[in-house]
Amino acid sequence: MPGRLKGKIAVVTGAGSQNEGIGNGRAIALSFAREGARVLLVDRRPEAARLTSDMIDAEGGTAEPFAADVTREDDCRAMVEVAVSRWGRLDILVNNVGIGIARRIPEITLEEWELQMRVNVTSMVLASKYAIPAIAAAGGGVILNISSIASLRGRGLAPYAASKGAVEALTRAMAADHGREGIRVNAIAPGPAYTPMVSARGMPDSVREARRKSTALGIEGTAWDIAGAAVYLCSDEARWVTGVVLPVDGGVLVN
Ligand SMILES: NC(=O)c1ccc[n+]([C@@H]2O[C@H](COP(=O)([O-])OP(=O)(O)OC[C@H]3O[C@@H](n4cnc5c(N)ncnc54)[C@H](O)[C@@H]3O)[C@@H](O)[C@H]2O)c1
Repeated sequence: MPGRLKGKIAVVTGAGSQNEGIGNGRAIALSFAREGARVLLVDRRPEAARLTSDMIDAEGGTAEPFAADVTREDDCRAMVEVAVSRWGRLDILVNNVGIGIARRIPEITLEEWELQMRVNVTSMVLASKYAIPAIAAAGGGVILNISSIASLRGRGLAPYAASKGAVEALTRAMAADHGREGIRVNAIAPGPAYTPMVSARGMPDSVREARRKSTALGIEGTAWDIAGAAVYLCSDEARWVTGVVLPVDGGVLVN
């Protein structure tokens, strides 16, 4: 059903991927463009955003790459200004950037902890700080934060789990604060999808298989599964949905 985001202007952070594969940010950006949105593709690696832009161009969609580091306030201000000056408004912000630091607390350094929180949480605060007034000026819209089921199942990933717990608390508080401005704020908590974020680390087949078996459905997830949920939550079909954290995990949490 193309056209579910027709006329919408979206900013997607981390819209590149770690390699030529399809990560969550790239799949979300491609899916938004297929549904008629114009998309600003934000990534700190210009070549990664450019590749996503080329993919969207090849399908006849509308998108532009924008090099920015979303842990920097000036960059977050600039990405919102560019979207508004280029296309006249901002309707949707997808805060997708995230990294995972796999440490137990006794092993973590203060620098690693601060990096984890800065990339996963501070970036969403800074991007939202500038996006909220712009979306409100457009008459309302959507912020979608990408969390993880690690917020609930964080064994071996304490810093990452804590950062995603913060993302979910932030999501609910922003939904309450900005509902009357017509802004819906939701999160997706992906499960163990097979994306470049994990495959780039050279995941052994046995681990990949164990991840598949951890789902109730027994099916391996991909970034397209996350993107499908993102399209729904950012479309008018979800006009009465705000403050939710939607697990997209093949049923890991109920298994
Ligand atoms: N893959 C999974 O199984 C899984 C599971 C749960 C949650 N997630 C979440 O999905 C999100 C990312 O998914 P992805 O597949 O797009 O990851 P990815 O690693 O393929 O792509 C992330 C992109 O973000 C960019 N980036 C990193 N730091 C940045 C910064 N400071 N400023 C701008 N860009 C930056 C990278 O250059 C990269 O292109 C994260 O929030 C992650 O926690 C993934």
